[in-house]
This record gives sequence, C-alpha cells and structure tokens, in this order.
Amino acid sequence: LPPQKKSAPQPFELCKGCREVINKVIERYSKPWKKQEDNYQKFRSQLSSKCHGFDKAIITQANTPVGSKLVYDGEKKRTLQVTPEIFSTFAKEHPFPNKTWDTCAVVGNGGILTNSSCGKMIDSAQFVIRCNLPPLEKSYEKHVGIKTDLVTANPSIFIEKYGALMGRRRPFVESLRSYGNSLLLLPAFSYGHNTPLCMRAVYSIEDFESPTRPIFFNPEYLQSLALFWRSQGLRAVRLSTGIIMASLALEHCANVHLYGFWPFSNHPDGLYALTNHYYDDRQTKTKFHAMPAEFDLLLRLHSQGVLRLHLGDC
Ligand code: CDP
Repeated sequence: LPPQKKSAPQPFELCKGCREVINKVIERYSKPWKKQEDNYQKFRSQLSSKCHGFDKAIITQANTPVGSKLVYDGEKKRTLQVTPEIFSTFAKEHPFPNKTWDTCAVVGNGGILTNSSCGKMIDSAQFVIRCNLPPLEKSYEKHVGIKTDLVTANPSIFIEKYGALMGRRRPFVESLRSYGNSLLLLPAFSYGHNTPLCMRAVYSIEDFESPTRPIFFNPEYLQSLALFWRSQGLRAVRLSTGIIMASLALEHCANVHLYGFWPFSNHPDGLYALTNHYYDDRQTKTKFHAMPAEFDLLLRLHSQGVLRLHLGDC
C-alpha cells in the first residue's frame, strides 16, 4: 500500500456574507436567556387558537370517524374519504391526551450537534422528539442522546432506504428498534403517494409486532400551522419537520428546548465547517423549505424567552 498522506487541516471557506449573518445571530443569541412566562403564554394561546394542536394535530378514531373527508395539505385538490380499513389504522385515543409536559427536547438533525456533548441534556427531558428517523448509534449517543418518545418519518425514507416497502420489510422494522416503543408520526395525508407508503409502514409494524406506535399528522393541522407561520412572516412552500415539531411542542410543553437547529454551514463558535446533518452531509431542498427564515423566527422566540435554542456545546 502506498504510504498514507497525512491530511493537512482542511481550510474552510465562508460563503459570501455568512460571517456577518452568523455574527448577527450570535449577537442576538448571546444575551442571557430567561423564560418569559407572559410571552410564552401569549404565544402558546395564539398558536392554540389558530391550530388547535392539542386536539387536532394527530388523527384519532375519536376525531376522524369513518366517512370523514380528509383534504391533503400538500395537494389541496386531493381528498380522501375515510374507509373502515383506513380508520382501523388510526390511533384509538389521543396518544398524548390533554396534558402538558414539563420539559420537551425537540432534536433537529443539524451538524451543530456533532461533538456537542448534548446527549445527556437531551435525554433528561421528559419528552424527546426526533425528526426523520435519525441514526442513534452508540457513537452518536454522547452528542444526541438516545431517548425517543416521538419520531417523525418522511415517506421518502421508505422509498430511498427500504425499497418503498414493496419487498422485504424486516430491515425497516429492525431499523425501528433504536426508537423503542416510541410514537412514529407519519404525514400519511400530505401527498397522495404518501398514503399507500404509510399504510405499508403501519402494516409492517403490525405484522412484525414491533412496539413502535404509528400515528398520523392531521392534514388540517399542518395546513393551519402553515397559515399561522405565514402570518408570522414566513414565506416557504413547506414547513420543515423541525418547525412543525417545535410548534407541536409549544402547545404541549411548559419548557421547550431545541437542539440541532442551525441551518448554516459553519459552527457559531470558531466558524469551522459543519456537515448539514450530524450523521451525513445531504443538503436540504431549498426549493421547499426556508430554514434560515424559520431559524430567524425561532431565534426571535428564543430572545423573547418563549423557547430555548441550544447552539453551544452542553
Ligand atoms: O426533512 P427536513 O429537511 O425537514 O429535515 P432534516 O434535514 O431531517 O432535519 C430535521 C430538522 O432539523 C429540519 O426540519 C430543520 O428544522 C432542522 N435542521 C436545522 O435546523 N439545520 C440543519 N442544518 C439541519 C436540520
């Protein structure tokens, strides 16, 4: 074998204007944080009155009887009348009834979590929400934790990683083991093609007797949430999973902590280069999401003491 070249430390380039943007963010972020109960209550009641996440975010047999008409939030012209077969896949009761948790951690997948040592702090939350079936191998545990009460899945993962669940389904079901008996939240009624994919995911979970508990987003909730954030100034085709879960947490948790939210390619301390995710460098589809604009709104909530963003190491 040829001798291995010692790799020199990688120089990094900052995109044009990035240093200014990051410096401005840090300036806003670095003021001491304190929860502002009034601001939190005000924001939460605005959100609840517009979106009713408490009763509406998740489809259940109680809020969506057989015969109801669902309107897909990603394709407004598409509707679906709930058949007994589809109904049988709905949660019987609300999976998190009218109850508020004390502390919730919403874990985004940003590369800012790499070497953050935030695992323990994340796992100390009463309720931990993760996005898009992120890898939780032992090597990540110190930085991202392991506890999962709810995890979302984008059906594109089923296509890319599990052959659209058309062939063997065991690899998919086994991949869910790291999330224990958590809830698996699926956008089954956002686009037409999501529905059969999500149904196959649910049937796989049932047939293999996995402890994972699949539940579905109510498209009406997603629609009202998009309108809510638009009214706050957000212009994006689709909300990112992260802001949807942060919104859900704001209705259900007294203290909302966000980790792994940093849609920039350089670390705020030291400006060294980051991967987009803590586990890979796949880029976000900027055509659909406006993560920096979302981040700006989340940072505003942080500054107002409504929720707490974690950017530094823990
Ligand atoms: O599918 P989507 O692009 O929404 O999400 P993802 O890349 O799997 O990451 C989950 C969430 O983490 C995103 O929806 C963002 O809210 C957040 N995120 C971030 O803030 N910064 C990053 N560099 C990557 C993800």
